[in-house]
Amino acid sequence: MEECVHQGLTRSIGISNFNSEQITRLLKSAKIAPVNNQEKLIDFCKKHDITVTAYSPLGQPGNVSGVDSKLDNPLILQLAKKYNKTSAQIALRYVYQHGTAPIPKSITKSRIKENMEFFDFTLTSDEMNAIRKLGTGQRVAFFTP
Ligand SMILES: NC(=O)c1ccc[n+]([C@@H]2O[C@H](COP(=O)([O-])OP(=O)(O)OC[C@H]3O[C@@H](n4cnc5c(N)ncnc54)[C@H](OP(=O)(O)O)[C@@H]3O)[C@@H](O)[C@H]2O)c1
Repeated sequence: MEECVHQGLTRSIGISNFNSEQITRLLKSAKIAPVNNQEKLIDFCKKHDITVTAYSPLGQPGNVSGVDSKLDNPLILQLAKKYNKTSAQIALRYVYQHGTAPIPKSITKSRIKENMEFFDFTLTSDEMNAIRKLGTGQRVAFFTP
């Protein structure tokens, strides 16, 4: 991947699902440090100037793991009403204000547009904390062997 950067084929190198031990090992040998990582290691990554991507930022509605998406949670619905936004936009704004880069996926044109329109309002810190408390620590994405 570093050779790809040297050849101008790649602008930045990212890593996916690395834990802090793996990142530490990588930082020791990498000539070009990774710029992007996923997982709940935001503080660790910030310290090392690695940005974090938030995959499944909508909680993967309808996922097969059976974990409920929070898009119809009363708090999210209440905030959507307050800011005249959709639940998805509240979720994306939360993830963005949390300092990570959300990558929602949609095959629906109107939703793709909707998912880019969350930069014109700001959640208060109380609202951020209230949303954070909805977290259950459950995983919707699993590693497959
Ligand atoms: N590196 C990793 O380990 C990893 C793990 C998981 C996911 N990812 C990546 O992260 C990206 C997103 O994750 P994801 O697809 O798992 O979850 P997600 O973005 O949270 O959810 C996608 C689902 O939400 C629906 N949706 C999209 N916009 C919506 C809106 N505005 N309102 C209501 N529903 C909406 C989509 O339906 P429609 O498409 O029908 O509109 C789709 O069913 C994907 O590109 C995925 O490849 C990476």
